[in-house]
Amino acid sequence: MRPRHAAALALACTLAAAPARAQQQLPLDEYRARRDSLAARIGSGVVVAFGAREPVAHWSPYRPLPAFAYLTSFAEPEAVLVMVVRGGRPAASVFVQPPDARHQLYVGIPADSAAVARETGLVRREMAALRPALDSLARAGLPFHTLRDFASSDAAGRDTLTVGASFMRGFAAAHPALVVRDAHEIVDRLRARKSPREVALLRRAIDVTVAAHRAALRAVRPGANERDVQAVIESTFLTGGAEGPSFASIVGSGPNSTTLHYVRNDRVMRAGEVVVMDVGAQYRGYAADVTRTVPVGGRFTAEQRAVYQIVRDAQRAAEGAARVGAPAAAAQAAADSTIARGLVRLGLIESADAGFDAPWADQCGARPRLCKQFALFIPHGLGHGIGLEVHDPAMYYYDDRAFRDGDVFTIEPGVYVNPELLRLLPGTPRNRALVARIRPAVERYKHVGVRIEDDYLLTAGGLEWLSRAPREIAEIESAMSAGAERAPLP
Ligand code: GLY
Ligand code: MN
Ligand code: MN
Repeated sequence: MRPRHAAALALACTLAAAPARAQQQLPLDEYRARRDSLAARIGSGVVVAFGAREPVAHWSPYRPLPAFAYLTSFAEPEAVLVMVVRGGRPAASVFVQPPDARHQLYVGIPADSAAVARETGLVRREMAALRPALDSLARAGLPFHTLRDFASSDAAGRDTLTVGASFMRGFAAAHPALVVRDAHEIVDRLRARKSPREVALLRRAIDVTVAAHRAALRAVRPGANERDVQAVIESTFLTGGAEGPSFASIVGSGPNSTTLHYVRNDRVMRAGEVVVMDVGAQYRGYAADVTRTVPVGGRFTAEQRAVYQIVRDAQRAAEGAARVGAPAAAAQAAADSTIARGLVRLGLIESADAGFDAPWADQCGARPRLCKQFALFIPHGLGHGIGLEVHDPAMYYYDDRAFRDGDVFTIEPGVYVNPELLRLLPGTPRNRALVARIRPAVERYKHVGVRIEDDYLLTAGGLEWLSRAPREIAEIESAMSAGAERAPLP
């Protein structure tokens, strides 16, 4: 998902860039406290966490795996964190790849043991010692707790090929009596509760993202390429002190506004269209996630305005339902019912509760929402936690799934009128009747995709709107007309 840089020289170089030092996102005591919290929950045992692999692309930046990055700021690729926990107290080591002098000339000299101890609080050990050390701990009868080494928890269900998972499978086979537990949820639950320092970093990531959205409002114009706008957004990230985007920037105009994860960003925008900009800066490892939808020509058409207002009303309804102790499902229901009523008014669905014969019928039992007509136009959920990952655990994911004091999350309703979706529907009698009824409205609103996504901090004092970029129709139009002279494109 990330831009790749062409290699400038055909050097016989198989090495990828990696910073050789700690990432210094947060003071050391924060990482120590996290390891202590994990150890306290485990009591006694061995925690094994594999770090990210060396990027297999030229000069792609190293991105640590979130669970690994949560527990240590150690930033060399292909390292393994081992915590031996006794009496609820951890002794943590990091096993590193063997030195390779030529490699180091390309990517930097790695920290020695003294520097690793100073910068990360970890004991540095050579990778060759990993297996013997683990063998001996297994023979001592300690249970093992593993952290899965996928890059995004969105891929958790597909985690079969990672280095850590295959190492642990082989290791468990060699020690048949070994107890191996998955510690991922323990760490996810720790990650869900953000510390004050984490919230401060998130605020910075969000502020930089808001600045990028304000700059984008002055760059959007008929004739501009989506990539021009992406460039303005991402350069604002960099000059604002962020590392760059926390996920592939989405700048989708016209028909592309209706593709949720459109990332090609290579179309010329035209007057009369909207453009969806779903972007987020990464600031010291923490991810913002903010979406604005604006009219390319500076003024929404009547159709775009109608869809936009439904989405904004849905967001407001969800904000009203997001209170400490309230079920997260209530916020989802508030947004869904606002959107469903709005879509009935526009003639895009038959009734707020009506269903259809879904191409994903196998999922209707577990997720009935997906098989309501309104979900044709909003196939994604209401939001998610943010943190080290753009989709980070939030406290409301767990137990009774109620919002908690300190939750940090997005609320991001959308409506996407993609005329192609009518072709996705199985040709059943019920669907044919539905298509006949809604086709005129689909034609009228086609290629209008609207998502409004904001970031929030919830406390007992209320819901704090963190991403204060213009979002009401009048504010957006006025900001765009104020920038009518238009900022120069890069
Ligand atoms: N940008 C990804 C999301 O909104 O969840
Ligand atoms: Mn999001
Ligand atoms: Mn987003």
